[in-house]
Amino acid sequence: MHTITLINGDGIGPEISESVQRIIKASGLEINWDLQTAGSDVIEKEGVPLPERVIESIKKNKVALKAPVTTPIGKGFRSVNVQLRKTLDLYANLRPCKNLPGVETRFKDVDIVVVRENTEDLYAGVEEKIDEDTAHSIKIITRKASERICKFAFEYAIKNNRQEVCAVSKANIMKLSDGLFLECFRKVSAEYPQIKSREILVDNLCMQLVQDPTRFDVLVLPNLYGDIVSDLTAGLIGGLGVAQGANIGLDCAVFEPVHGSAPDIKGQNKANPTALLLSAIEMLKYINEYSYAEKIEKALFKTLSQGYKTADIGGNLTTTEFTNKIIENL
Ligand code: NAI
Repeated sequence: MHTITLINGDGIGPEISESVQRIIKASGLEINWDLQTAGSDVIEKEGVPLPERVIESIKKNKVALKAPVTTPIGKGFRSVNVQLRKTLDLYANLRPCKNLPGVETRFKDVDIVVVRENTEDLYAGVEEKIDEDTAHSIKIITRKASERICKFAFEYAIKNNRQEVCAVSKANIMKLSDGLFLECFRKVSAEYPQIKSREILVDNLCMQLVQDPTRFDVLVLPNLYGDIVSDLTAGLIGGLGVAQGANIGLDCAVFEPVHGSAPDIKGQNKANPTALLLSAIEMLKYINEYSYAEKIEKALFKTLSQGYKTADIGGNLTTTEFTNKIIENL
C-alpha cells in the first residue's frame, strides 16, 4: 500500500481534501494517508507554521498531496507554500491548463502547460525596509535554477509530445536578471533541436493569451510571471476551481491545486474539489497507478459532461453532492 503525505490545509482545504480522499477510496485504491497539519492553526501548539515533522514526512514518503494553506498578507509568517518548495528544492511548478468536458469557456482547444521556476526570483524573500517610505525586494535569478527549469520544460515537452517551448521574460527592462534567464533558455534550447523554441515578453504574452490561447504550447517562466500567468491560464479553462498543479523536485513531489484557501467560501460546502482531484490524478500517475488515475478521470469527466457542477463553474451542487456524483460514476 502507498503511504502518501496529506497536508489538508486550511480554509476550504479540509473540505476538498475529504472529497478527494473519498473519491480515491471509492475507486478501490487503498492509500495510507499520513496526515500533516500546517499553517496558522498549528502555530499556537507548535510555534511555527511549517513544523519539521511535515518536511520529514514528505522526505520519507517522497510524495505529498497538498491542499491550500493561508498566508497572511503584508505581515505575519512567511508563506508555508514557498517555504516547502524551497526546503525540499521542488524546483519545477507544473501547471497544465486544458479545457475540461462540460465546462463552458470562451475558448475551445486550450492546451497550455505552464512550467514555473519555483525557488527564486522575487519569491526568495530578500526584502528590506530602507526607511519609513522605502522598501526593497531583491529579484534573484541564477544560472543554475534557470538552466534546470528550462531543461525540465524541454524534457517535459519531449515526454508529452509537445511541439514548442516558449520562454517568457521582461528582458527588455530587466536586462541582467531576465537577460540571464533568456541566456540560459537559449543555451538549453540548442540541446533540443527537435522541439521548437520561442521567446516572448510577458506583457505581450498576456495580451495574446486572452486573444487566442491556442497560439501557445509549453511556457517556461521565472517564478513571479509564472505565478501570475498560471492564474490567467486557469481563467481560460473555467477558473481556479479546476486548475491543477504539481511541485516537482529531484527527490520528491508535492501535488497541489493552483488556487488558495478561498476564505470567502470556507465551511459553506461550496468549494470545487476538481482542481485538487486533478492534482491527485496526476499524483497517481506519478506513482504509477495509471489504471486508478484513468478510472477517476473518466468518472470526473463523465460527471462534468452530465452537467453536474459546483457554483464556480456554473452549476448548483454542493461539494458533497458533486463528490457523490463522481463516486456514483466510478
Ligand atoms: P484563492 O485562490 O483562495 O481565491 C480566489 C477566488 O477563487 C475566491 O473567490 C475563491 O472563492 C475562488 N476559489 C478558489 N478556489 C476555489 C475552489 N476550489 N472552488 C470554488 N471557488 C474557488 O485566492 P486568494 O483569495 O487570493 O487567497 C486566499 C489565501 O490563499 C491567501 O492567504 C493566499 O496566500 C493563499 N494561497 C495559498 C496557495 C497555496 O496554498 N498553494 C496558493 C494561492 C493562495
